[in-house]
Amino acid sequence: MGVGSFNVGSFDVGSIDVGDIDVGGIEIGGIDVGGIDIGSIDFGRNDSYLIAFHHSREQREVFLSMQIIVNDPNLKPTDLKGFCVGWAQPLEPETLFDALKGSYRYVIARDDHGNVIGFANAISDGVFAAYIPLVEVLPENQGAGVGTAIMRELLNQLKDLRIVDLMCDPPVQAFYKTLGMIPMVGMRARR
Ligand SMILES: CC(C)(COP(=O)(O)OP(=O)(O)OC[C@H]1O[C@@H](n2cnc3c(N)ncnc32)[C@H](O)[C@@H]1OP(=O)(O)O)[C@@H](O)C(=O)NCCC(=O)NCCS
Repeated sequence: MGVGSFNVGSFDVGSIDVGDIDVGGIEIGGIDVGGIDIGSIDFGRNDSYLIAFHHSREQREVFLSMQIIVNDPNLKPTDLKGFCVGWAQPLEPETLFDALKGSYRYVIARDDHGNVIGFANAISDGVFAAYIPLVEVLPENQGAGVGTAIMRELLNQLKDLRIVDLMCDPPVQAFYKTLGMIPMVGMRARR
């Protein structure tokens, strides 16, 4: 695996509970120290870290490095082109930008070129409950662990709240189950 893409120097060690990081599966300095569990890294707002993600699947192996950023102050509407594929009424990049900026927390993934390849957001009262309205990964980057990395960080950001809900279609439940979430029954209104 590519050692250079894992930039250990970018970690803000002061904000990481190193004891909770499981570095099994990542190769650092040529030494395979085995997957990384980023879910337990404790970040405040506007912080970021780089991860190198090695994702094994039945048919193929995917390796990519990405930067996971919470409430990115450098985010621009033009970063959010190409999302909402397959939506009946896709949200414009400007609307996505406003939705993210108006959120309690949002998490984005940037690739090595700085391009946004995925995002998720949470709206919340900040003390009790949160709702996750948007989880999107660019089609060409799906299936490579991006959604998992984003959601782990977002759930980490919400870890002190008792209720974290989202709605999804039945096939996508498998994705959220891998993150420890469980199915529920809900109600909705749509415009
Ligand atoms: C759903 C989505 C966010 C997942 O992100 P991703 O980066 O593709 O997912 P990951 O690579 O981290 O997948 C991790 C695991 O989740 C499961 N999974 C991922 N996407 C899935 C899907 N669409 N349906 C069922 N299971 C899925 C797989 O089990 C996968 O494990 P595997 O690699 O061993 O097969 C992404 O595919 C996406 O943006 N889809 C279109 C928009 C969407 O449906 N958003 C959710 C709205 S509620």
